[in-house]
Amino acid sequence: MPISVIDWTQDGVNILDQTRLPDEEVWVEVRTVEAMVEAIQSLRVRGAPLIGVAAAMGLAQTAGLRAAEGDLTREWVEAAAKELEHARPTAVDVKWTLTRMYDAAVSAYESKASGDAVAEALRDMAERIWQEEIDMCRAIGDAGAELVPSGATILTHCNTGALATGGLGTAAAVIFVAHERGLGVDVVATETRPLRQGARLTAWELAKAGVPTRVIVDSAAASLMAAGEIDLVITGADRIAANGDAANKIGTYALAVLAKAHGIPFYIAAPRSTFDHDLASGDEIPIEQRAATELPTAPGAEVYNPAFDVTPAELIEGIMTDRGVLRAPYGEAIRALGRGMSETR
Ligand code: MRU
Repeated sequence: MPISVIDWTQDGVNILDQTRLPDEEVWVEVRTVEAMVEAIQSLRVRGAPLIGVAAAMGLAQTAGLRAAEGDLTREWVEAAAKELEHARPTAVDVKWTLTRMYDAAVSAYESKASGDAVAEALRDMAERIWQEEIDMCRAIGDAGAELVPSGATILTHCNTGALATGGLGTAAAVIFVAHERGLGVDVVATETRPLRQGARLTAWELAKAGVPTRVIVDSAAASLMAAGEIDLVITGADRIAANGDAANKIGTYALAVLAKAHGIPFYIAAPRSTFDHDLASGDEIPIEQRAATELPTAPGAEVYNPAFDVTPAELIEGIMTDRGVLRAPYGEAIRALGRGMSETR
């Protein structure tokens, strides 16, 4: 059972504030589109699939409040969806969810629905999107766990569990299912500089589930691999291009290169909502640059602080999805996967 990280309230959306974890479990109620954009940008709510779910829920709730005041228009839905979509640039799931939300509103308007009925259609769609993420996470876990050898030590990066998806997770789902199946796995979780999603969030989630976990600084991965202590690497992704190049938290590319150098299989785990069929390769994936304040240094020194990097497809042994494990050549496998959530409309 995944931990609870997001929920509806009477007038808004409650999110577990991830900036306060693991020290405090504080829930914050978000009641406007602007507040949801702030929550996404400040990483109170984060992780590619969960950003999409949170944005959809925030849009639905704000639409409900506007409908109650007789002030819900198609133009407002379009502008709010755009604002939420652009809160952070790299993860693509939010684009899929908001396209579906906007399409749901348009079809309600076209059938001459009242404002309240449009808001209801938005809420139904947000519920459906969230449920689909939950289902896809479980399917990723089931497919991925088939590739996990008994007693394996799995290295993972950043946070990919409930806190990143609203369901069981992506890479974390594979770990949880392997643990559930009694495979006796243990995990090496990278700290994940600079905001420490691994040390703060992954360690918290895995400890709650009773999965044996060691946290390392990012730069300790090479020596552990050289010592033969890592059997496989599994990370999530924020956007996967049509050729299989995958953007994920900064440092993922380094882990993939290291895994290759040590003959260790490197896997990506992601739902169909994370594939961007419109981008030919990873070169086209927009990479978010974060504020210099996240990397304290001496006055006068410049800071380079990208949130993500791109792992080329040739370094990826397989992509664990909710529709099974994709293997190279990825272009073909990704085309066969279909255009993801847009197809389920
Ligand atoms: O900046 P974050 O914390 O949102 O980055 C999250 C990641 O990089 C995850 O690995 C990614 O969203 C995929 S896992 C659901």
